[in-house]
Amino acid sequence: MTTQQIFDLAIQVGIKNDPRGKAEVARVLKKNRRDFRELSKKKQAEYDKEKFVNPYSDSRFLSGDKNKKVKRVLVGIDIDSAEVILAKELERSGKPIDLIIAHHPEGAALADLHEVMDIQTAVLARAGVPENIGEGVLKERLEQVWRSISSANHYQAVDVAKILGIPMINVHTPADNCVWKFVDDYISKKKPKTLGEIIDILKEIPEYKKATELHAGPGIFAGSEKSRAGKIVVTGMTGGTSGSEKIYERMSHYGIGTEIAMHIREEDRDEAIKHYINVVIAGHIASDSLGLNIFVDELEKKGVEIVPCSGYIRYSRTKARS
Ligand SMILES: [Fe+2]
Ligand SMILES: [Fe+2]
Repeated sequence: MTTQQIFDLAIQVGIKNDPRGKAEVARVLKKNRRDFRELSKKKQAEYDKEKFVNPYSDSRFLSGDKNKKVKRVLVGIDIDSAEVILAKELERSGKPIDLIIAHHPEGAALADLHEVMDIQTAVLARAGVPENIGEGVLKERLEQVWRSISSANHYQAVDVAKILGIPMINVHTPADNCVWKFVDDYISKKKPKTLGEIIDILKEIPEYKKATELHAGPGIFAGSEKSRAGKIVVTGMTGGTSGSEKIYERMSHYGIGTEIAMHIREEDRDEAIKHYINVVIAGHIASDSLGLNIFVDELEKKGVEIVPCSGYIRYSRTKARS
């Protein structure tokens, strides 16, 4: 596979597992083309045309040769300058890295992270929270996220990869869509009645089992083992980053009993408790790993060797099946 083929495959896997559904994603891409046509020439020149084919603003081909043949990839949750140097070091030990795959956004993908947050509205709508409410609550938070990211040094690690000549991409929401779909399906099949049962079910999944051994497994952040779960929604798994704390009051009104998320901010937890919503935290890095694993398995099937780093818990479902 080439570097570009790997990136394109990531986008396809993301669309396949997208909570909005394929048709809605196609509509969004079409709308981007329409919006572009209506822009002034000056604005068109600044427009990121990647948006015609890639619905994930937080996932980008960051730097390097797009036609390079890939035998071995370095995959990590956070790729910092240190991991890029590590990729270069591996060359010396006879294991050259052809492509670096980061999960968390960097470069342009970090600058535009807020644009994928709309997916959260779709996740909540599936659980019965009307779209106008999901969208309205999220609006302010979206701008807040954009402002808070704007001061970052977005291209620091990307620049190191560029200087060393190692191609680099990042796959954020496509992988997060995979973990969302996997956990959502898994939980709906098992129908847990209490929070304790949710924790037990999550720990059946290899990534969460491993994370438990590493002292970073699933935990109850609001409620107790014996608390009734009520209606469960797997939110806070995809859609960029944490949503707005204002959503908990609405979730409560629309009959949601328990939220399962990757991680939670203190202000969100406080609101959840205030509105009697239970919170089960599956674990941040374990959840990110699970999502990445589902995508990376597709590369492994095509003969690409995976070198995990930066907290990434690699578990191969391809190898487990064979
Ligand atoms: Fe993630
Ligand atoms: Fe993450």
